[in-house]
Amino acid sequence: VKITAYGVRELEEPYFQRLNTNGFELTYVRELLTHENVGAAADADAVLVRGNCVVDRQNLQQFANWGIKAVFTRSVGYNHMDLQAAADLGITLARVPGYSPYAVAELAFTLGMTMFRHVNLGITQTQQANFIVNDALFSKEIHTATVGIVGAGRIGLTEGKLYQGLGAHVLGYDPYPSAAAEAALDLVELPQLLAQSDIVSIHVPYFPGKNDDLVDADFIKQMKPGAVLINTARGELVNVSAVLAGLDSGQISGYGADVIRDEVAILGQAFASAADLPSAEVQRLLAAYPRVLITPHVGSYTEPALEDMIRISYQNFQDFFATGHTTNEIK
Ligand code: COI
Repeated sequence: VKITAYGVRELEEPYFQRLNTNGFELTYVRELLTHENVGAAADADAVLVRGNCVVDRQNLQQFANWGIKAVFTRSVGYNHMDLQAAADLGITLARVPGYSPYAVAELAFTLGMTMFRHVNLGITQTQQANFIVNDALFSKEIHTATVGIVGAGRIGLTEGKLYQGLGAHVLGYDPYPSAAAEAALDLVELPQLLAQSDIVSIHVPYFPGKNDDLVDADFIKQMKPGAVLINTARGELVNVSAVLAGLDSGQISGYGADVIRDEVAILGQAFASAADLPSAEVQRLLAAYPRVLITPHVGSYTEPALEDMIRISYQNFQDFFATGHTTNEIK
């Protein structure tokens, strides 16, 4: 079986090779899938992508023309895939429903603690040779604080447990909580979580057209004054204008994000300066440093997560080519 895998960094290739116990014939493409490089899959039997690859109707039509029946993503999120187009073209989509939840949870936790203890402000000052200890650096301690996890799936729950390890009181909001979340977290309604939490961390899937701007002015108004907001899920879930207004008014004290809106145009590229970025929104976020911290979508970029993504993707292909189905299909 020939698989063209998009967005495979050099570092990832040895993992792809070592875990390939199925004898798949891999073609690696360094770049994410675009309209320009779709041809790299012309003689493939299947395609493997990751988040931010362009799996729209145009590319799916190309794949269908070449007889490709399986286009799988090694991400949890699948907002980059056109489900309707795939169904129309008879292409099966599948994903990796979960990889090491510590990957994203640890990053969200680290961003949260960095801003909670004002490390972002302190480092920025000392880098400017400013050693004044001003009121902005005065902090609570996390074991006396409350953390709110919005979306208590595997990642949110894992982050909640990290905070519990430090003694924090952890609230969770989830419309469909798992038994594990019910057992571990103090589950409450969203308004209560927002009113009480010193750190709010977002871990909900993004459904285009359904929960865009979940975090809007009203959400931020309901947050505890001075709280920190963390988003390691998807940029589209957060209205940046509302966040920046919340920072300006002091309603929130920090925004840490591993994700930005429309990442496809920005991720994986180095621009000469912020002025060259193709997004005014991201320019505004960067200008708000150090109250806004942005990382380049690296939550899942860890050894265990990478291994899980590749292993489960191979299993998806194995199942699909053996039976015509995988348990991880997206419909
Ligand atoms: C996901 O798995 O949903 C991610 O956000 C990972 C990313 C590399 C697309």
